[in-house]
Amino acid sequence: MKSFAILPFIASAALAAVANVPTSIVDADKDVSDAGVSKDQIVAKFVESSDGSKIYAEAVGDPSNPPLVFVPGYTISTMAFDKQFENETMREQLYMVRFDPRGHGQSVMNASEDAHKSELYADDFKAVLSAFNMEKPVFAAWSLGGAMLTDIIVNIGTDAISGYISIAAIPYIGDVLSEVVSESTMEIVPGMQVSNSTDDWKKNAISFEDSLFYDPKAVPFDFKAALIGAAAQEPSDVTKIVIGREQDSDKFKELIKDASIPMLAINGKQDSQRISGEAIVDSMKKYWSEDLITFTEVDKAGHAFFYDQPEEANEQFRAFTLKSTGHEDQIAAANNNGASSAALPSLFALSTLLLSAFIL
Ligand SMILES: *[C@@H]1O[C@H](CO)[C@@H](O)[C@H](O)[C@H]1NC(C)=O
Ligand SMILES: *[C@@H]1O[C@H](CO)[C@@H](O)[C@H](O)[C@H]1NC(C)=O
Ligand SMILES: *[C@@H]1O[C@H](CO)[C@@H](O)[C@H](O)[C@H]1NC(C)=O
Repeated sequence: MKSFAILPFIASAALAAVANVPTSIVDADKDVSDAGVSKDQIVAKFVESSDGSKIYAEAVGDPSNPPLVFVPGYTISTMAFDKQFENETMREQLYMVRFDPRGHGQSVMNASEDAHKSELYADDFKAVLSAFNMEKPVFAAWSLGGAMLTDIIVNIGTDAISGYISIAAIPYIGDVLSEVVSESTMEIVPGMQVSNSTDDWKKNAISFEDSLFYDPKAVPFDFKAALIGAAAQEPSDVTKIVIGREQDSDKFKELIKDASIPMLAINGKQDSQRISGEAIVDSMKKYWSEDLITFTEVDKAGHAFFYDQPEEANEQFRAFTLKSTGHEDQIAAANNNGASSAALPSLFALSTLLLSAFIL
C-alpha cells in the first residue's frame, strides 16, 4: 500500500490497466449510456426472452461504438470473457456484451425439450440485442456457443450480424462434432452430465476445466474454482439437453452459402479440445465462402486462448470487429493505444519491484 502513496500517479495509472475489474450493476432499467454509469462499469441485466425465460447479460463500453457480443461454451458462464471486458482499449473502442446461453451460468435452467427449441435461442439473442440497443453486432461464440449461430441465421436471417468470430467453435450440434472435437473431450463431455456419483462428476469437471487452458497450473485457483462452481449449478439433465438439442443445420448451410458474412476463425494452437484449427475451418469451408474466412491460430494457447494469450486474442477481436462493422479506418490509430496501455503493466511491475527493493 505504501507504494501507492509514494508513487500515486504511476500507481493509479497502472492500476487502471492492470487490475480493472469493473463494478457490476444489476439494474434492468439502467443502460450503459445512462448518467452515473461510467465506461468502466458493467451493466448487468436479466433480459426476458419470448417465452418469459430470463437470460443473464452484461455490457461494457460506449454504446455508440461497434458492437461485439460474446457467448461462452459448454458449462461455462460470462466470466470466461473477463480478460476482454477488463481490456481498456476494447472498452474505449467497442461496445461489448456477453451473455449466458440458456442452460448456462445465471440464465434459465429448464430441462424440458420445448425450452430448447432453436427459435428460442434466436429469441434470446434478439432480446439481449434489444435490451442493450444493439444492431447487427459481430457475434463471437466460443466452443458449443457457436451452435447459436445456426439458431440466429435460421430464425432471424443472415442480416442479423455483421461478422462472426468462431472462437474454436462448433458451427451446430450434430455429426459435425466428431469432425472437430477431440476424442479426449468427447470422453469427458458425458462425465459432465453424471448425476449418480458426485465423485465422478467432480473428477470430470476438474479435467474439463483444466483442459481449457494451455497451462492450467498458471491459471489462478479462484478462476478455475469459479468455472467449476458455475458448472455445478447446472442440473445434469440441462447439461445434457444443451448439447443434444435439435437444430436445422441444412437450412443454416443453405442460407450461409448465399450470404456474405465475414468470419474470423481463431483458436489456440495447443487446443486439446479440438482435433485442430484446420479441422474446424475445413468443415465450414464446405458451405462458407473461403474468401470470407480469416483463419488464425494463437501460439502457447489452449481452448481458452483468449484467456491464455489475451493480448493477441484481443487485438484480433478488436481489429475484426472494426473491420466487419465498417470502421476499418480506426484500426491503425487504435494500435497505438493498445501498445501504450499494454506497456503500463510492466511499468507498474517495475515500479513495485523498485519500491519493494527500496523498502526492504
Ligand atoms: C420450462 O419450459 C417449458 C416449455 O417452454 C415451460 O412450459 C415451463 O413452464 C418451463 N419451466 C419453468 C420452470 O420455467
Ligand atoms: C451411474 O450410472 C452409470 C450409467 O447409467 C453407470 O454406468 C454407473 O455405474 C453408475 N455409477 C454409480 C456410482 O452408481
Ligand atoms: C487489449 O486490447 C488491445 C487492442 O485490442 C491489445 O492491443 C492489447 O494487447 C490488449 N491487452 C490485453 C492485456 O489484453
